[in-house]
Amino acid sequence: MSPDDTPSREASEARAIALADRYLAVRRRTESLARPLSPEDQGAQSMPDASPVKWHRAHTAWFFETFLLTPFLPGYRVFDPAFAYLFNSYYEAVGPRQPRPLRGLITRPSAEEVGAYRTHVDAAMVRLLTTSPTAEVIERLDLGLAHEEQHQELILMDLLHLFAQSPLEPAYRETSPPDRSAATGLRYLAFEGGLIEIGDDGPGFAFDNERPRHKVYLEPYRLADRLVTNGEWLAFIEDGGYRRPDLWLSDGWAAINEQGWDAPLYWRREENGAWTVMTLSGRRPVDPHAPVGHVSYYEAAAFAAWSGRRLPTEAEWEAAVRAPEGQELRQTSDEAWQWTASPYGAYPGFKPGAGALGEYNGKFMVNQMVLRGGAAETPPGHTRPSYRNFFHPAQRWAFTGVRLADDMSALDRETATPAATFLEDALAGLTADRKTLPAKYFYDAEGSRLFEAICDLPEYYPTRTETALLRRIAPEIAARVMEGAALVEFGSGASTKTRILLDAMPQLAVYVPIDISRSALDEASEALRRDYPGLVVAPLVDDFTRAVRLPAAARGRPVTGFFPGSTIGNFAPAEAEDFLRGAHGLLGDGAMFVVGVDIAKSPDVLVPAYDDAQGVTAAFNRNVLVRINSELGGDFDLDAFDHRAVWNAEESRMEMHLVSRVDQTAHLAGREIGFNAGETIHTENSYKYAPEMFVELARRAGWKVAARWVSDSPSFGVFALAG
Ligand SMILES: C[S@@+](CC[C@H](N)C(=O)[O-])C[C@H]1O[C@@H](n2cnc3c(N)ncnc32)[C@H](O)[C@@H]1O
Repeated sequence: MSPDDTPSREASEARAIALADRYLAVRRRTESLARPLSPEDQGAQSMPDASPVKWHRAHTAWFFETFLLTPFLPGYRVFDPAFAYLFNSYYEAVGPRQPRPLRGLITRPSAEEVGAYRTHVDAAMVRLLTTSPTAEVIERLDLGLAHEEQHQELILMDLLHLFAQSPLEPAYRETSPPDRSAATGLRYLAFEGGLIEIGDDGPGFAFDNERPRHKVYLEPYRLADRLVTNGEWLAFIEDGGYRRPDLWLSDGWAAINEQGWDAPLYWRREENGAWTVMTLSGRRPVDPHAPVGHVSYYEAAAFAAWSGRRLPTEAEWEAAVRAPEGQELRQTSDEAWQWTASPYGAYPGFKPGAGALGEYNGKFMVNQMVLRGGAAETPPGHTRPSYRNFFHPAQRWAFTGVRLADDMSALDRETATPAATFLEDALAGLTADRKTLPAKYFYDAEGSRLFEAICDLPEYYPTRTETALLRRIAPEIAARVMEGAALVEFGSGASTKTRILLDAMPQLAVYVPIDISRSALDEASEALRRDYPGLVVAPLVDDFTRAVRLPAAARGRPVTGFFPGSTIGNFAPAEAEDFLRGAHGLLGDGAMFVVGVDIAKSPDVLVPAYDDAQGVTAAFNRNVLVRINSELGGDFDLDAFDHRAVWNAEESRMEMHLVSRVDQTAHLAGREIGFNAGETIHTENSYKYAPEMFVELARRAGWKVAARWVSDSPSFGVFALAG
């Protein structure tokens, strides 16, 4: 090394001071966590798994004393040789120790003496860090600080458990838990999988169990974008989730029966029937929007089974968090550690280090499950995407939570709609001589919500009428459906009418809802899985005009198609014929197809149904422009378009338009879209049929009409087609 390469004295001094500062900041945080506690609080041990706060404070000092000061600081004098026995946790190579379940019996040293011990160690550590911060010292310092941060979280976990045992149920802190009322709907994000890498990729500190980085092959999968909420857990409880052995792993079923568990740890049903939960802020009402916490792996796995989903593997979790699409995942490391389906084991090529520190992680690599992420009580900056936490499957006093995952079927992948299609369709329609937009683009999450609101409007007769008719005829339809059949629904939305058929057809084994709106499909599938536990729900996010193959769960079964809502009326008759022909191909020979068709009637009934007094249909119509602005970067002035519904007698259809109020120019993808005042964008057709006309159309598409039912006025038809 030339003299020029020698770091200057100031630089190495500054580095040493920075190290000491970093050390002291972590140590101070431990003390500040303990500060609100009395010496009595600090000495008690609530169960063998938990340790007294005083013990955590002393053990973390012992760690620095044993692994840094004694070997590396010349002339270091241990504070008290007896502490080696009292505060060694599990290091066999260092010597014998106080048994863990008996840590609460260590009444001496006092909490105050432990404070003096920490001060003694801190002074020596600052000396070490400012005099000989060798690479080995710095490496052990990083480990010691990460270790102390782990104990900071343990202090709060153990304390919560302790306070939960007290009849007074004291609050550790006075602050209220955050308001989660804004928690939004659940989305499943899709990840391609393939050959990916997991594990520490440097350059900062990581534990040995996060290495070596290595390759893992993943099938395509989906991951929930948020954690399971208390509200969802309540539904699981109320559905008898803790009483149904079919949902539980054998060990889990044994555990809940031995322990008498019927809810997450710290939950209590009060006399008025409401649930409360013990928190660090004392006992509080269970917030249905907050993530569920303090559940065991067994409970997480049972909940996933009840939901018809599964837990993610740790590799799926890590790959998702690192993927660009993973930016949309919420609550990854700031709410609760997330149980994974992965047993805690060594990564390929893992070798524990030599000596006592080699015992840090490696010897626990059996009979535990990995948790990923981080919790609200995890020290800031402590965790990272490769971080592997681990607990025994029955333990639940840690800050644990649940994120669900799902397989992505080959069909989901094959038929996923390209993102570019919306833009292409919008540009093609808006630059045509007579401007149009395809009706299917009404339906994002908001569009689906608005459609459900339309169904409840007094003017919107089709939903009411069709529902009443389906209730009446469901037994007749059910009589034509074979045991073990699959029901395939096109444009299923909230799957509300579906329930009429499901209730009438216990013989159904599989339900395949197909919809272009992922949010509607996810919500509906979740609810149906809950309410029809024996039914396999295999949803398909797709344009129903393009679906070419049924999901594996439905193949080889007798199939019944279902297309309610008069959605078929959105097609022009020639397109409807093509659609029916395509559906025949998808459903297969021998299938039955139940189709709801609105019947032509007086404009006095029709027009208000598409132009309601409250303006809900107008908002639904404008939603396509809202989507063009937000998803495609358009700049349409929403207030400059009126909603219009007109009856076109010649074509026998209701039309919806957006009418430009003024001369104006909007922009989309660099194109100018000019409008004259009064010019319209034609957004939807709803063709109305005379029953005979529809029968004819179905025949031309290769179907026979096996039965038909037409309601009294306002008339609506349901046709059972046989293929
Ligand atoms: C009129 S709603 C009917 C909803 C429900 N079946 C009912 O009867 O109340 C139409 C549904 O079809 C879906 N949809 C519209 N066009 C679609 C397309 N091309 N492919 C798949 N789903 C579509 C919408 O998202 C919406 O859920």
